[in-house]
Amino acid sequence: MPADNLDKWVEEIQKEIIEEEIKRYNKYIVELIQNPKNWGKPNSSEISVWHAYEGSCGDTMQFFLKIENGIIKKVNFITDGCGATVAAGSQTTMMVEGKSLQYAENLQPNDIEEAIGGLPDDHKHCAELAATTLRRAIEKYKYQDQEKDSQ
Ligand code: FES
Repeated sequence: MPADNLDKWVEEIQKEIIEEEIKRYNKYIVELIQNPKNWGKPNSSEISVWHAYEGSCGDTMQFFLKIENGIIKKVNFITDGCGATVAAGSQTTMMVEGKSLQYAENLQPNDIEEAIGGLPDDHKHCAELAATTLRRAIEKYKYQDQEKDSQ
């Protein structure tokens, strides 16, 4: 197959995949899947705490938080999970950046799901994975802080 035909074929396949995703998820979720926010592991100087968590489906997520004076200054994530998880993780980072630890640890899966416009029943646990990973990272940070104080 000539190269320009191959490019066209790849383009058509990608378009079909996007159309399938839009049927399953809404347009906003598909945009986050294609262009995740705050994706990737930052430099160690930008991490106060990180935590990896395995969800009920066996997929994992990691959150990296830079915290100063009880405020989340920077937040990144990665996941090996599905598209819904990428969207839920992205949305979670946008919702908690610049916010207090108290606000972030109280963020519920429903809040995340609502913010992305809903998830199919078989993917509701993906928002749970994002909320739980974030909460566990904050718990770890608080524990580390207590340990530092007691030394
Ligand atoms: Fe496993 Fe979404 S995180 S299916």
